[in-house]
Amino acid sequence: MLKKSTLLFCFLFALLNLIADYSGAQRINDQQKGLKDYYKNFFPIGVAVTPQQLKDSAQRQLILKHFNSVTAENAMKMGPIHPKETQFNWAPADEIVNFAVANGLKVRGHNLCWHTQTPKWIFNDSLGNQVSKEVLLQRLKAHIEAVVGRYKGKIYAWDVVNEAVSDNPNELLRNSNWYKICGEDYIAKAFEYAHKADPKAVLFYNDYNTESPEKRARIYRLLKGLIDKGVPIHAVGLQGHWSIQDPSEEKLKKSIEEYASLGLKVQVTELDLSVYSDSNTPDATDKTKLNNFSPELQQQQATQYGKLFKVFRQYKGTLTGVTFWNLSDRYSWLDNFPVRGRKNYPLLFDAELKPKQAYWNVIKF
Ligand code: GLA
Repeated sequence: MLKKSTLLFCFLFALLNLIADYSGAQRINDQQKGLKDYYKNFFPIGVAVTPQQLKDSAQRQLILKHFNSVTAENAMKMGPIHPKETQFNWAPADEIVNFAVANGLKVRGHNLCWHTQTPKWIFNDSLGNQVSKEVLLQRLKAHIEAVVGRYKGKIYAWDVVNEAVSDNPNELLRNSNWYKICGEDYIAKAFEYAHKADPKAVLFYNDYNTESPEKRARIYRLLKGLIDKGVPIHAVGLQGHWSIQDPSEEKLKKSIEEYASLGLKVQVTELDLSVYSDSNTPDATDKTKLNNFSPELQQQQATQYGKLFKVFRQYKGTLTGVTFWNLSDRYSWLDNFPVRGRKNYPLLFDAELKPKQAYWNVIKF
């Protein structure tokens, strides 16, 4: 007969093995898990991409591990995709959409009407004179029908109008060529054309500084006006070009709640957290004020990312997506804005594509 102590030993040994197996399995599991898996009960996690990145196997793998939504960084903007009135450059946008469809990722379309990255031909006739409102709206309609129509059923959401609200607190709308030629009507028209081209697409107004109380009030006014007129607008995009200090939880919550009170869904569409806080000061032009990405800054950024995602999770249901603007610190548009050539470190993955402290804070909940 086995002694009691031997039995106890065997039992403990088996238990320890079981625990080791289980945590081993967990470890493998955790290694395979990406952002999108941690957030599967909250909202899709997206990233802005270029066709070139999709051809680079390490970046492609990183995208597939962590993200379940993509946005074309530039490929769908009016200038790149519609360079001449009768010519479309579909290939780069097609590559992104085909990649997403083949791998089961969602696609956000970005964007249909913006004051910048427009093609040269759009505002002028063949003699170089400015076109009439009728002609411009007709061109906008043809553009939207072609682009939205091509990706109908594959692109679930469109940023229809981007950044129409002025930077000048004393006026509502930016004095862009769209506005100069069409007045405010171009905004409602863009939404109507997009809705007609794909009635199922979720249509967004997208902008920056959406949390600054002053601009927030003007964006709210614009959105309310559109809704009151019955314009098919469904959601608002907070671009989320923020910094390691801003916005506060309070400002972010207030803005989500205010836009949502109009019956709109909300997404964070272009998230990055600059490690510089001087984008609006004269210092921003001084390249000698380069930050090396010190441990303090890394910690500050991680804390801010953690704080923001905590708020995002609280608004599950209202907040229907969070998209990062670029994949890793290897390349960010902020390396050249507002100061050309000033390296920034705004994302969750470093230049070697490794998760940063900020990443661990985003998945810790
Ligand atoms: C804006 C646009 C984006 C992108 C960024 C900077 O936020 O909406 O498409 O151009 O600026 O890269």
